[in-house]
Amino acid sequence: MKEKVAQLKEQAQSSIESAASLQELEEIRVSLLGKKGELTEISKGMKTLSPEERPVIGQLVNETREFISQILDEKNNQLKEKEKRARLEQEILDITLPGEEVELGTTHPITETMNFMKDIFIEMGFDVADGPEIEKVEYNFDALNIPETHPSRDITDTFYISDNVVLRTQTSPVQVRYMLEHKPPFRMICPGKVYRPDYDVSHTPMFHQMEGLMIGENISFANLKGILTHFVKKVFGETEVRFRPHFFPFTEPSAEMDVQCAVCKGKGCRVCKDSGWLEIMGCGMVDPEVLKAVGYDPNEVSGFAFGVGIERVTMLRHGIDDLRAFFENDIRFLKQFK
Ligand code: DAH
Repeated sequence: MKEKVAQLKEQAQSSIESAASLQELEEIRVSLLGKKGELTEISKGMKTLSPEERPVIGQLVNETREFISQILDEKNNQLKEKEKRARLEQEILDITLPGEEVELGTTHPITETMNFMKDIFIEMGFDVADGPEIEKVEYNFDALNIPETHPSRDITDTFYISDNVVLRTQTSPVQVRYMLEHKPPFRMICPGKVYRPDYDVSHTPMFHQMEGLMIGENISFANLKGILTHFVKKVFGETEVRFRPHFFPFTEPSAEMDVQCAVCKGKGCRVCKDSGWLEIMGCGMVDPEVLKAVGYDPNEVSGFAFGVGIERVTMLRHGIDDLRAFFENDIRFLKQFK
């Protein structure tokens, strides 16, 4: 019996030693120590031993079991470590290899300028409003005091969808929508796309405007000048500005605002057509007729409005001299802007 145990111990040692995988090791464990394992079988055979032999063999079996368990554990650890190393080697990641470039788009210069302009007004407490590009004639023209016979209503100047529906030709109808939904006092801007059937070097059928409107008690032309001058200086830096009398059906009095030509500093050049000034926006005090059209009392509230062309501001900010650059989607051009 002793020999049997000794033999088993030796066999166990060598088979455990040569086990090549965790799975194989587990099989060996079961075959030795499992319920039907060889050592277990030996234990069962102890019944046949004499009472003197029993404790001696019993102790030997126990020691052997412990010994085998121990070398199984050791081998188990070794194999685990080996398998882990093999896995890590397979998963090895060379962080010194150059990465794959992820192509990121850039913000379109029109959008970039639009956001820039928006932020200036947001800082001054203006709300940012939105309106539909497919607009009612009622809001695009009628409520803005634009006469039935006004040439801007012609099919040569406006894209009609039906008799009463157009692609908005200006962001001004958002003024009407906003006033119908809000009570003064308020100040709002509305940037967006507008459409006119024009196409030449300085006109595209779709372009962008930003509308502004401020209504309250005692809002005066001084407020208009203060706010618009602040805006223009934020956009172009320290510059001279001037307000030239003009006419718009929805404002009275109306003006166009000019900035000093940055190219010639007011001396006159090709860019400003020798005038020294660049027109930058239309503005004025909201006409009482417009206030009445939305149910406001012109004796109680007053306000000013303005409309800026965003392409124009973008061109002046970045020294771009061809409007078409915005719409040709040449990546080399567009990439220059953040
Ligand atoms: N809607 C005008 C245009 O498209 C621009 C404009 C001028 C808007 C004066 C205004 C304004 O709100 O007061 O030419």
